Amino acid sequence: MTDYKAADPSAEAAAAPPVRPAGDFLIFGSPLIGEEEKDEVLSCLATGWLGTGPKVAAFEQEFRAYTQAGHAVAVNSCTAALHLSLVAAGIGPTDEVITTPMTFCATVNAIIHTGAQPVLADIDPVTCNLDPKLVEALITQRTKAILPVHFAGRPCDMDALTAIARRHGIALIEDCAHAIETLYRGRHAGTFGNFGCFSFYVTKNVTTGEGGMVVTPDERLADRLKVLALHGMSKDAWKRFSDKGYAHYYVVECGYKYNMMDIQAALGLHQLRRVARNWERRQAIWTRYDRELADLPLVLPSPPAPDTRHGYHLYTVLVDPARTRVSRDAFIAAMTRENIGVGVHYQSIPVHPYYQERYGWRPEAYPHSFRVGRETVSLPLSAKLTDRDVSDVIRAVRTILIGPGA
Ligand SMILES: Cc1ncc(COP(=O)(O)O)c(C=O)c1O
Repeated sequence: MTDYKAADPSAEAAAAPPVRPAGDFLIFGSPLIGEEEKDEVLSCLATGWLGTGPKVAAFEQEFRAYTQAGHAVAVNSCTAALHLSLVAAGIGPTDEVITTPMTFCATVNAIIHTGAQPVLADIDPVTCNLDPKLVEALITQRTKAILPVHFAGRPCDMDALTAIARRHGIALIEDCAHAIETLYRGRHAGTFGNFGCFSFYVTKNVTTGEGGMVVTPDERLADRLKVLALHGMSKDAWKRFSDKGYAHYYVVECGYKYNMMDIQAALGLHQLRRVARNWERRQAIWTRYDRELADLPLVLPSPPAPDTRHGYHLYTVLVDPARTRVSRDAFIAAMTRENIGVGVHYQSIPVHPYYQERYGWRPEAYPHSFRVGRETVSLPLSAKLTDRDVSDVIRAVRTILIGPGA
């Protein structure tokens, strides 16, 4: 074990002045917004076309081209993208959908909203992604879909998951909230299954404030998603107030209010054009963390697997108090004291009371997710971070774990 400088390094750190001064708190996940985004939003405001319109159509087109997907449909969140995909896949009451306990609640809630039963399979403790062997063991007559999450931007084992879905004739819906840039054997995450669902929430690699996208290889399904996303009104209803004159629409099914606005797409268009540059910046930060935290008693993320591209969305470290002598929550409190914001992605799904009460889930039944959920902390990884910000994060972590001046 490392030779520590202090008996209780976090206490010693607390006595020293914070790494970042008061009033200079480093906000976790703060996005990098350029002048182009601001100008594009202003141009929306100037034209008065704020709602779903030509910028959404352009953003869909550019996103489709970037991911090399067949079709892309913009919506107002990844939660909406997941829900619509499940509905379009025909999932409903009496069905089961297998997903991971190591995810945001939205993944599971989207399944519940269809009336289907979510079924959890534990993760591989190294990748934090669904373990395909456990998935296959849970398939029943009622299983209608697998919903993997490319956790932190690391692709799931898509060879295994697509083979299982094919073997059992069930849908594959990929939660790509972390995985815009993620590649698996040269193919974009989200293009392996029937649907790929992306998030443009504030902290995500491409942001529209709130927003999401569904990609699908199937044109008919894409058309249905468009209808479902706007009240069930006929496909081009968003054009009804355009300069071509008013056009009637017809409600063809009972849909939802999930459409993206042009103001959101105005941000997304320029965020997407900078996606490669921002990814490179995050890769550089990731590499620095790997190098400069390597001697600490933390578990750092495992390196990306060969023939994949990691999306570098979250840099998650595990704080195991048996090694660090600081609990995860004490570590978070200490980082806050150093004026550095961190995140937790995630406490495992079965720790939440709603799911325990409704499904009788126990966290211990998914031991890898439970342990990771108790130990994980996400360090800042936004492309907005300056070199000094990154140095501050590293210094704060070192100070907390091995004492000031470390
Ligand atoms: C894995 C995962 N799935 C789904 C979502 C939901 O995304 P949104 O906030 O765009 O609805 C998130 C958002 O944090 C997420 O991290």
